[in-house]
Parts: sequence; C-alpha cells; structure tokens
Amino acid sequence: MAMLWKIIKFYARYTLSFTAVGYWWRSLFWPPLKPDFTGQTWIVTGASGGIGRAITQMALTGGATVIAAARSPAKLAELGDGGGRLIPMPADFSSQADTDRFFEKLRDDGRKIDVLVNNVGILNNNFALTPEGREESFATNILTQYLLTERLIEAGMLNREGVVVNMSSGGMYNAPLMVGAMNVTKADKYRGVFAYAVHKRGQVELTKYWQTLYGAARGLHFYVMHPGWAKTAGVARSLPRFYKILNLVLRDGKQGGETAIWLAATKPVCEPGAFWFDRAVRAEHVFPATRNTKDTPAGLAEYLRRELKLS
Ligand SMILES: NC(=O)c1ccc[n+]([C@@H]2O[C@H](COP(=O)([O-])OP(=O)(O)OC[C@H]3O[C@@H](n4cnc5c(N)ncnc54)[C@H](OP(=O)(O)O)[C@@H]3O)[C@@H](O)[C@H]2O)c1
Repeated sequence: MAMLWKIIKFYARYTLSFTAVGYWWRSLFWPPLKPDFTGQTWIVTGASGGIGRAITQMALTGGATVIAAARSPAKLAELGDGGGRLIPMPADFSSQADTDRFFEKLRDDGRKIDVLVNNVGILNNNFALTPEGREESFATNILTQYLLTERLIEAGMLNREGVVVNMSSGGMYNAPLMVGAMNVTKADKYRGVFAYAVHKRGQVELTKYWQTLYGAARGLHFYVMHPGWAKTAGVARSLPRFYKILNLVLRDGKQGGETAIWLAATKPVCEPGAFWFDRAVRAEHVFPATRNTKDTPAGLAEYLRRELKLS
C-alpha cells in the first residue's frame, strides 16, 4: 500500500513536467538557441535511435563533426551522411572489450574530442548476462561509460573546455547510491526497474566525482541530466504499459535531448553533479530515504576501476 501511494504521488507530481507538456510550457520562456559547434568533434553513444539520434542531428545542425556510436551499422547508416561530418562507428557498450576497441580506434585515428554524450542506456526487464559475465544493464548504463570517459581523459583526448554530458533518468529518484547493487549477477535477485534506478543514481554521483577531480585540473565540464519522458523504442520495449498510457503526451527525442545541446553550448557553472532537466538544475532527491547511503562517489569510482581491472 505504501509503495502504491508512493507511485501515485510520483506520477501526480511529475507527469506534466516530464512529458511534452512541461517542455512546451518551459520552452516558451527560453531565449532562442542557435549554437555554433563548428570545428568541434562530438561522440554520441546510443546515437542511432531515440534521444541519441536527436542529439546527433542537433549537433550536426550546429556544425559539429559527430562520431555516432551504436551496435547496428545498418541503423547508423540510416542517420545519413550529415554532409560528411557524421562518422558512424559501431560499438557494443555492454562489452568492456568492445568499448576498449572503440577507444583504441579513436586514439589511433588521432581524434580530439570536444563533447562526449554518454547517452546509451537500457532498462532490461529480463535478466541478461554479458559474455564477460556482467549484468547487461550495469555494463551498458554505467560501467563502460566510466571506462570510455576515463580512457579519453587519461589519453588527453578530451580538449580543454571540453564537455561530458551523462544521460541519467528521473528513475534515479527511486534509489540511493548503492555500490553493492550495481552489478546483480543472480537472476533471482534482479529487478530491472530498480537496477536501472541504481545505475542512473550512480551516473549522478560519478558526475560529481569527475567534476571534482578533473573539472578545474583539466578544464573540463561534467554535467548530468535527464530527458523527461520521451517516445522512444527503448521506452516502448521496457515500459510498454507506461508507453501506451502516456503515448500522446510523451516528448519527442529532440525535446528530451535539447538540454544536452544547451549544456554543451552554454557550459553553465554549477555544483558538481547538479541534476539538469529542461535547462535548469532540479532536485537531486525527492524521497528522503535516497539520501541514506554508506557509499561515496569516490567509492563508486574505485569499485568500477576494480571491476574493470584498471590500475
Ligand atoms: N526515453 C525516455 O523517456 C528516457 C527517460 C529517462 C532517461 N532516458 C535515458 O536516455 C537515454 C536514451 O534513451 P532512449 O529512450 O533514447 O533509448 P533507446 O530508444 O533504447 O535508444 C537506444 C539507442 O542506443 C543504442 N544501443 C542500445 N544498446 C546498445 C549497446 N549495448 N551498445 C551501443 N549502443 C546501444 C541503440 O542502437 P543499437 O540497438 O543499434 O545498438 C540506439 O541507438 C538512455 O540513457 C535512457 O536511460 C530515456
């Protein structure tokens, strides 16, 4: 009963805000944005569909060169050629080995990156283990995002004044930082929605960690945001009932991803790990219980390094 009440309160509070209605209303008060990303190179993960696709297209419109990453070469090819500024690079971010291969190709090609959008993310209702022995959504949602970002930083491939945008979710409001619950490798212990919330909370904490560690020292800007609720294949697959009920008012990918473009264009100063949505910082917690944790952002980073066997 308490859980049902919590769910009702959550939807009553956020349905208008997170759907297209919230976007339409807020965007009435925004100054027009015509970003100029000419000369910049971006990486967008999960770029062939949904929000990642929209971010890729908006960055291209702003004049950026975009390295677009997702698994299916065929879906990446559907993005078009972007006037020669689109570089499709297939990668499977549920795999450490493939993320390393992706990074090595970037390094060997001599790429320097201005904006990294860690957009890829999945909610698996059914438990799945990767061939590397990890729960698939853990590997995709946070582990390889940590790996790719750290590799780029360590190799000096993120330009000064570079931007990293981590795509979290309002779903993170349902979990505290729980390092021990990141990688649930037993099917009977796995609950997809909660695992997703744990990873998405982890992205917020990781952003705090990165901004504190590398922000001033390397001249980098780390942001974490959520897109509201957008009509994408991922939502249709993972939350079919939610998708069916809210179908008419869900955002399009552009409305979900616009804040990533705004962050990259304006580089606002904020507290490390500030949680952005529709061009503004929002609450990091809505339920008091999610403030209770014994874990720290540095502890999360240490755990991910151990899991990846990084020195
Ligand atoms: N849509 C929403 O309402 C919503 C709400 C809150 C947060 N978010 C977050 O926003 C981000 C984008 O969500 P979305 O709804 O646009 O997702 P989506 O519709 O599921 O888009 C998936 C994209 O990711 C790629 N992808 C999936 N698994 C991959 C993997 N292992 N390696 C590389 N690429 C992979 C897909 O291409 P391939 O299949 O070819 O790999 C596709 O390009 C996610 O982080 C999600 O958690 C979305």
